[in-house]
Amino acid sequence: MKTARISAYKAEPVIADTPVPAIGTGEVLVRVAATGLNPLDTKIQQGFMHDFFPVVFPYTLGTDLAGTIAEVGPDVTGWRVGDRVVARTDPSSGGALAGRAVVPVTHLVRLPAPVSFEQAAGVPTAAGTAWQALFEVAKLRSGQTALIHAGAGGVGSFAIQLARNAGARVIATASGDGVEIARRLGADQVIDYTAQPFEDAVSDVDVVLDTIGGDTEQRSFGVLRRGGYLAATASPPDDALASAHGVNAGFVFHQSDAARLARLLEQVAAGTLSVLVDRVIPLDRSDEAFAHQASGHARGKIIVQMETT
Ligand SMILES: NC(=O)c1ccc[n+]([C@@H]2O[C@H](COP(=O)([O-])OP(=O)(O)OC[C@H]3O[C@@H](n4cnc5c(N)ncnc54)[C@H](OP(=O)(O)O)[C@@H]3O)[C@@H](O)[C@H]2O)c1
Repeated sequence: MKTARISAYKAEPVIADTPVPAIGTGEVLVRVAATGLNPLDTKIQQGFMHDFFPVVFPYTLGTDLAGTIAEVGPDVTGWRVGDRVVARTDPSSGGALAGRAVVPVTHLVRLPAPVSFEQAAGVPTAAGTAWQALFEVAKLRSGQTALIHAGAGGVGSFAIQLARNAGARVIATASGDGVEIARRLGADQVIDYTAQPFEDAVSDVDVVLDTIGGDTEQRSFGVLRRGGYLAATASPPDDALASAHGVNAGFVFHQSDAARLARLLEQVAAGTLSVLVDRVIPLDRSDEAFAHQASGHARGKIIVQMETT
């Protein structure tokens, strides 16, 4: 089978022919149809995540996958060969950018019939993080206002829809065609961050979802109401700044949760949550996919299509 792997940090991903991995207790083998990229993949490749997710080389990249079960472990019940599934593998294991991937059954979610493999592969990390940040960390409620940075990005595109569906007023930042994309996804107001500082256009929000970090994160404290919440996914927020502004702040560290992923996929199946797909790229051009992901300017999700053999 083909895999996209690296043999050292900072090495370019190489497409290699590798043996199909063996499954162990509590695992299934998934024939991967599509893999969704995340900034996490390029950060792992660059070695930036070593302290959180150490890897063993050669490392097969990718965590978010959709496909069909090709083999089930002897002790596995409730899953059959041919079942359509979605999963997020542990980042230290990776393995999603491959013809077959080993997945523990605890990570498996059934893929509802109307959802394509390409859509499904875009969901686990980005939508899971958006949900976790908005509702589990920041406790966003109906009637509140949320500022969502990078509304046309992977996390932001889901966050706009999830916040809106929960009855919140949504303000997003974006630029270029991202402004119209964020509007179409349901943002009530979109600020072109290249045309004006967002803090000139927004104040007293209940929740900020910051997926940018740095200067954007620092300036975000000032647009929150007292007691508001800044949920950050890119870099840990400054506690001293949070206290100085009388707000709360927390870093969102994605925790995989199969039940949460199942609920998100039900929303995709029902048509209440859409997956913004930037592009679908075949595995043999995964270098292009990685370069675009690393650019930081994706419009939603970059999906790598696997060979079907
Ligand atoms: N902690 C965790 O567990 C966790 C989980 C998921 C993601 N993350 C992190 O969260 C961050 C975002 O992830 P993602 O998947 O959403 O990334 P992404 O899809 O690569 O985000 C790309 C988007 O960011 C926008 N953008 C770039 N600079 C901006 C700025 N200054 N203001 C507003 N928008 C800007 C781009 O719009 P333009 O092209 O218009 O600039 C683009 O649409 C990454 O750092 C990722 O590693 C962390």
